[in-house]
Amino acid sequence: MSKNLLAISGSIRAHSANTSVLKSLQTFAPEDIYIHLYEGIDQFPHFNPDITDVAQLKPVNDFRDQLRKADGIIICTPEYAFGLPGVLKNALDWLVSSGEFTDKPTATISASPLVTGADKAHAQLIQTLKVMGAKIPAGASLTIPTILKKLDDHGRVNDQSTIDDLTDLIDTLVEQMNQPVSYEL
Ligand code: FNR
Repeated sequence: MSKNLLAISGSIRAHSANTSVLKSLQTFAPEDIYIHLYEGIDQFPHFNPDITDVAQLKPVNDFRDQLRKADGIIICTPEYAFGLPGVLKNALDWLVSSGEFTDKPTATISASPLVTGADKAHAQLIQTLKVMGAKIPAGASLTIPTILKKLDDHGRVNDQSTIDDLTDLIDTLVEQMNQPVSYEL
C-alpha cells in the first residue's frame, strides 16, 4: 500500500538549499512513497497558547491535520546563529500540546554551505522532536555540509555520496513506518 511523507523545510527563502534537498527526495524514494512538501509555516502567528481566534488558528490546524494524516515526516533545516530558524521552532511550538508527533516516524536533515552541516540546529531539532514523542530511527538523521557544492543549477542533489545517504535515510524511515505500532500497557 502506498504511503505519504510530509516534508517540512526550516527555510522560507525562495532559493533555499534545504527546500531543494526536500524537493530532490522523491527521486530517491521507493515507487509507492509519495512526498508532499508542506509550504506555509510562515503563515502561523507567533506561538501563544492564549490565541483562540479561529481565523488565526486555521493555518495551524491545517498543518496539524496534514501531520496527523502523514505516515512519516521529514524535516530539513538550515542553522541561524548556531540555532534552529525561529520560523521552524515557532511551527513546532504549535504542536507541543496537540500530539501530532507522538510515535510519528520522523527523519531529520540539516544542510549548510558551511563544513559543520548545521550540526547545532540539527541537534536542537532532534531534541525538540524527541520531547514531543517523535520516533526518529537510528539512520534517519543526516547533516549535509557544503551543500552548495552538492546541488546542480536546478537545485537537484547531484553528489553521489549525498544521494546514497538520502536514499538510505528514506529507506530507514519507510522501514520504521512499516513497523507495527506497539502500545505499552
Ligand atoms: C547564516 N548561515 C549559517 N549557517 C550555519 O551553518 N550556521 C550558522 O550559524 C549560520 N548563521 C547564519 C546567520 C545568518 C544571519 C545568515 C544570513 C546565514 C548560513 C546559512 O546556512 C545559509 O544562508 C543557508 O543557505 C540557509 O539555508 P537555506 O535558506 O539555503 O535553506
